[in-house]
Amino acid sequence: MSQQKIPAAPPCTLFLFGANGDLVKRLLTPALYNLSRDGLLDRNLRIVGVDHNAATAEAFAERLHGFMADRDKGEGATKCLDDKVWAKLAKRLDYQTGDFLDPATYEALAKRIAKTTHGNAIFYLATSPRFFPEVAQRLGDAGLLDESAGGFRRVVVEKPFGTDLASAEALNARLLKVMSERQIYRIDHYLGKETVQNILVSRFSNGLFESFWNNHYIDHVQITAAETVGVETRGAFYDNTGALRDMVPNHLFQLLAMVAMEPPAAFGADAVRGEKAKVIGAIRPWSAKMALKNSVRGQYSAGKQGRKRVPGYREEGNVATDSQTETYVALKVMIDNWRWAGVPFYLRTGKRMSVRDTEIAICFKPAPYAQFRESELERPKPNYLKIQIQPNEGMWFDLQAKRPGPELVMENVELGFAYKDFFKMTPATGYETLIYDCLTGDQTLFQRADNIENGWRAVQPFLDAWANESEVHAYPAGEDGPEAGNELLTRDKREWHSLG
Ligand code: BG6
Repeated sequence: MSQQKIPAAPPCTLFLFGANGDLVKRLLTPALYNLSRDGLLDRNLRIVGVDHNAATAEAFAERLHGFMADRDKGEGATKCLDDKVWAKLAKRLDYQTGDFLDPATYEALAKRIAKTTHGNAIFYLATSPRFFPEVAQRLGDAGLLDESAGGFRRVVVEKPFGTDLASAEALNARLLKVMSERQIYRIDHYLGKETVQNILVSRFSNGLFESFWNNHYIDHVQITAAETVGVETRGAFYDNTGALRDMVPNHLFQLLAMVAMEPPAAFGADAVRGEKAKVIGAIRPWSAKMALKNSVRGQYSAGKQGRKRVPGYREEGNVATDSQTETYVALKVMIDNWRWAGVPFYLRTGKRMSVRDTEIAICFKPAPYAQFRESELERPKPNYLKIQIQPNEGMWFDLQAKRPGPELVMENVELGFAYKDFFKMTPATGYETLIYDCLTGDQTLFQRADNIENGWRAVQPFLDAWANESEVHAYPAGEDGPEAGNELLTRDKREWHSLG
């Protein structure tokens, strides 16, 4: 969404399944609040929470208000809760008590689709993933996905979308039995981030980039999502999931696709998603032996995060004391197409690392040594283009420059663009854009079935190889993963770009 005046989205009844869950509390409510404050919701938009706990609309609104107020008191709080803005949002809120598996729930929902919304409805599945196919099936059985009367009917599916290739394919098949691809909005919240969307704009609106964006000039690409948090309260989910499933086929592959895709013929949903599916589909499927060679798993042990002592992963709540689940993963993948032939993509993500930093570092081939043969200089260092997704949003080129003085000494300098220097960045969750796009029917930032399945196809060899043979290297909390993660690059005579 740009800063210029954009119209309010069409009227709609937005059903939030899993209304009492974490996602509604932490992200969807603040996002809806921001959209309402910015005048981007139609006056007739209604929001209906759906969950099994009995509650009234007033009690539901009161709870959400409590979450927003607590959020304002929290660490790094932005003090954004305005009572007038809240009052307007609260008026839109309603609540339906109901069991997700009971057909009676869906009969009740049908009655709640407001006449003033022209029959438009969005069903947002912010539930545990086991309910995704069940709710979709019941929505279909109840006729709630039928658009023949004119109103749109859309279903938003949260992550995780499957746990491997087979389960993702099965889930797609079940959804597509009761609705069309046009009605499905598979969310990856990374696509709601301004800096992620900006990768496409930067690449395809500046002719400059295309001239060196290929294997003639780029040596390799690094994609890192480093977090300082541990598993927090999500031990039970995380212990069955691990860093690979949690972050790679979705978030990291979306970043990879943004960097590596071909220019789409248009900026429409089909063209953009078609190019993404192609590039993710071009990731070479490793043999079991190569999957082991090209992956490193790590798990944090007790350590220090800043000054604070933090427990190891196996001491976290709801985590098995002998857990072999990885909280860090580093991978090397190759993209088999003409643009990227021979250019490795190194991916890493981990919890409890030294800093929070999501970045893409594009490493260019170094200048030839011969240039400086007569001087004392070492071989020039490679140039990097760093695209920082968060927290310090921007793009920076690392260049070598001559340090002023009588000697010929090179030093690293930066040529950069920081968002905060050019744009007013209002705090946002990233879900604002995604909800607005869903309301307006723009699927560009949502994953199509083939994007998701191609992602799982590329990670499946790692899952299979690890199931038979797997080593999980310990790393102390507060450090950047295990030594083996560094060796993945040093054996190729490369190194990770330093974080932060
Ligand atoms: C979620 C993962 O999808 O993304 C979490 O389940 C992770 O484990 C989070 O912490 C990271 O998102 P962000 O926006 O903080 O980078």
